[in-house]
Amino acid sequence: MSHRDYAGCAIPPLVHDIGFGWDPRPEIERLLFVARQAGVEPGSGLELGCGTGRLVQGLQSFVPDVVALDLSPTAVAYAQPRCDAEVCVGDMSDFALDRRFDLIFASANTIRHVCADDDVRRMWNCIADHLEPGGVFVADLELGFDAEAEKIGKPACWMISRGIATVHVSWETIEPPSLETRCCTIRWTFESRDGEPVGKWSEAFPLRTYDAEEFMRLATIAGRLRLSGLYEPRDPYLLETPVGKAVGRMLVALKLEE
Ligand SMILES: C[S@@+](CC[C@H](N)C(=O)[O-])C[C@H]1O[C@@H](n2cnc3c(N)ncnc32)[C@H](O)[C@@H]1O
Repeated sequence: MSHRDYAGCAIPPLVHDIGFGWDPRPEIERLLFVARQAGVEPGSGLELGCGTGRLVQGLQSFVPDVVALDLSPTAVAYAQPRCDAEVCVGDMSDFALDRRFDLIFASANTIRHVCADDDVRRMWNCIADHLEPGGVFVADLELGFDAEAEKIGKPACWMISRGIATVHVSWETIEPPSLETRCCTIRWTFESRDGEPVGKWSEAFPLRTYDAEEFMRLATIAGRLRLSGLYEPRDPYLLETPVGKAVGRMLVALKLEE
């Protein structure tokens, strides 16, 4: 397994965990629903880019055998003690765990951290190599090349409190996706105003930006997978969406052939 430089997680894990600290149950229930719609009742699962482990912990009530990896050693060090699961440092574009899973998933735009064409191709092959025949991969991500460019100057902001700590998060597209690299630049800022630690952390990083067609093409050609379901999460509904109309936040389920 190779560990390369990474971008997108230089925020202190506790601050990151509070900032992403909304109730994980609806995400876990949607993930399991989408897997079941694909005909998979997972006994084993692998999370790519698990961050502080907030989803691993909740998923363990439903899936007995969960493994997770993240490129950030500090995130892994935070996640490991809170999860009764194997959590390891690893690169989702280049991993070899020597086993297969019924379900592999990447939440919250995490799959978009893999930017370069070669890395994207290798990632899909790694995913296919780690799925059981008939197993399912689920990604939760925002799709739409033009839609990403339209977000310039319109940051999404939210605020979450835990105990005496309140963390304000701002997520902003600061450079539109380029036709050459297919990446946009995001800046996220976390500000912890009460409790410990108090401070402000900001980081800019690239995210691969996909139209739905391109996402499906790369996954299905390089990864030996086929589209099983594409859904827009619009609480409490999941709206099945055709590839040609998939813009905005989507759940994509891809199955490895039996
Ligand atoms: C937006 S956070 C999401 C964390 C977690 N999935 C959640 O929903 O709370 C993205 C995570 O992906 C990790 N990451 C970025 N590039 C990665 C790579 N190539 N391989 C594995 N993890 C990566 C970052 O370290 C970060 O923890």
